[in-house]
Amino acid sequence: MSTEQYVPVYDMEDLEAEGRTVVQEDGQAIALFFHEEEVHAVDNRCPHMGFPLVRGTVEDGLLTCHWHHARFELEKGDTFDPWADDVQTFPVEVRDGQVYLDPDPEPTVPPVTRWRNRLADGLQENLTLVQAKAIIGVDSVARSATENASGERSDPRAEHGDGFGTPLETAVDFGTRYRAGGWGSGLTTLSYMAELYPAVGGRDRRRAMFAGVRAVADDVAGEPPRFQQYPFQNRELSKARLKTWFRESCEVRDDDGAERCLLTAIESLPPGDVVEILVAAATDHLYLDAGHTLDFVNSALATLAHLDWEAHAAPVLASTVPLFTEATRSEELSSWRQPVDVAALCLDAHDRLDDLVAAGSGRRWDEPEGFVETLLSDDPGAIVEALCDAIAAGATRRELTDAVARAATRRVAYFATNNEFGDWNTVHHTFVYAQAAHELAGRTDATEGYRACIDGAISVYLDRFLNSPRAPVAGPADVADDRDPADVRSDLLACFDEQGQVNRAGRLVVEHFSCGGDPADLKRVLGRALLREDANFHTFQNVSGAFRRFDSLAALEAGSADDPETGHGEAVDIDEERRLALVAGARYLAAHTPTRRSNEQTFSIATRLHRGERLHEAE
Ligand code: FES
Repeated sequence: MSTEQYVPVYDMEDLEAEGRTVVQEDGQAIALFFHEEEVHAVDNRCPHMGFPLVRGTVEDGLLTCHWHHARFELEKGDTFDPWADDVQTFPVEVRDGQVYLDPDPEPTVPPVTRWRNRLADGLQENLTLVQAKAIIGVDSVARSATENASGERSDPRAEHGDGFGTPLETAVDFGTRYRAGGWGSGLTTLSYMAELYPAVGGRDRRRAMFAGVRAVADDVAGEPPRFQQYPFQNRELSKARLKTWFRESCEVRDDDGAERCLLTAIESLPPGDVVEILVAAATDHLYLDAGHTLDFVNSALATLAHLDWEAHAAPVLASTVPLFTEATRSEELSSWRQPVDVAALCLDAHDRLDDLVAAGSGRRWDEPEGFVETLLSDDPGAIVEALCDAIAAGATRRELTDAVARAATRRVAYFATNNEFGDWNTVHHTFVYAQAAHELAGRTDATEGYRACIDGAISVYLDRFLNSPRAPVAGPADVADDRDPADVRSDLLACFDEQGQVNRAGRLVVEHFSCGGDPADLKRVLGRALLREDANFHTFQNVSGAFRRFDSLAALEAGSADDPETGHGEAVDIDEERRLALVAGARYLAAHTPTRRSNEQTFSIATRLHRGERLHEAE
């Protein structure tokens, strides 16, 4: 090792007499210990929470911090306590009665690798502070490497590199391997935090990844691991055969058989065919698992869009199999059978789909005036017929799922606060199901996608009493239009500090639009409000869903390369729809805040440690 960068830092005789001291080098405090006739140099800040290690105890080659009693091997700094992390040590030499040290030693592993390893430790041990430190650490390294000149970013994976990709990939690998139950609420939260990521600013992006990683670790903690099946050797099996086998295996709740079929499809078919198989099975029964199956499958596919399909499709999609085989089937629920047998209505419409699609082939549907009001009506027969007529008139899956999602958005936006609190989740589930169906319609044009429209619309129907009476959501004419949007956002953020501000939060969203505020700024504030809370799964899911709904409306309006004329007709007030999407998210968030914000405290500690700020008053 070169000794050129060694610098003299202390008198050896004095160190022998004192036993320990602190020196400052390049702005960092380094503790020197004279122990067992040797000199040791360690970062004076305990890697756990910054307590000065010079105040620790040294005995038998072991340094023990006095704050939470983390122990470190004195020479190389390895910790006995994974929650504390290893401490940085510095090579030392004694020359001419002086202690010399290298203040900037070569790292033993690249910084990104080190933080990835720490993140894995944090996931395995479910240590939130370790997770937060690792996410901040890797993002910090990545930012300095990838910041481009303009500062503009669009695709998170490409633009944010390791700060985004490392937490996502590490947590996905961990969550899909170590949870026998497969893809659950943790990985779904992670997925939707990844979608939220570009909409929030600065440090909230780190908070988003922290929320996702934390959710995965929580979901996996205490669970048995997963053991993945293998694909069949025969790679010549057709899509039709694999699709049939997968659905039949799910039908009889055969996890292993279904997983082998799916893995074979992943190995031998293009991704679009795999998506088609999943959407077909996810809609073979009605509104599986209160909508979770479709939403979770969509979240798994959204996650894969940020990862390498070849490397990750098998573990990610195999982990979704229990969502199909263990799900509650809504046609088995009395609420779907009585007093009106809406399950029969849905199943009958499913049976007619091939004919309806054939009738609509080559036709272009214009959404009729009042279509969403029909979907919100109390006549399930009329609702299903309106959908069937639309399909026969050429409505695409994207158009029809969008209409159902607009209806479902109103159930949340207009949710009456005199309902039971738990019923927020009834309307929420329908909303996220409808949005997931819309996103899946963008991933596959399988006919089965229409089944999700029908089932989603019937769930909207079943939720109708939760809008009776409708919550008093303000319209543009009811609010000020001359306030500074920044003041409106400030008031909105304050709403989430106090319970019972549901309607006020909705009103302020409307006001922000009326005052000409930029929706991107509004989303950033809503994102901040979400990410500082100890939000539960549904709250993360809902706010992310509201943002994605907002974005979907714009995307549909813009059409697509394949179908540039796709878009909303004149019957749709796009401004109102976008406003309502964020009203829905803001109202749901306000109903579930404030929380204890303990995770924000952990994140704040990790941030301060990263900046080198002192958490402990002692020198
Ligand atoms: S163990 Fe050292 S600060 Fe916690």
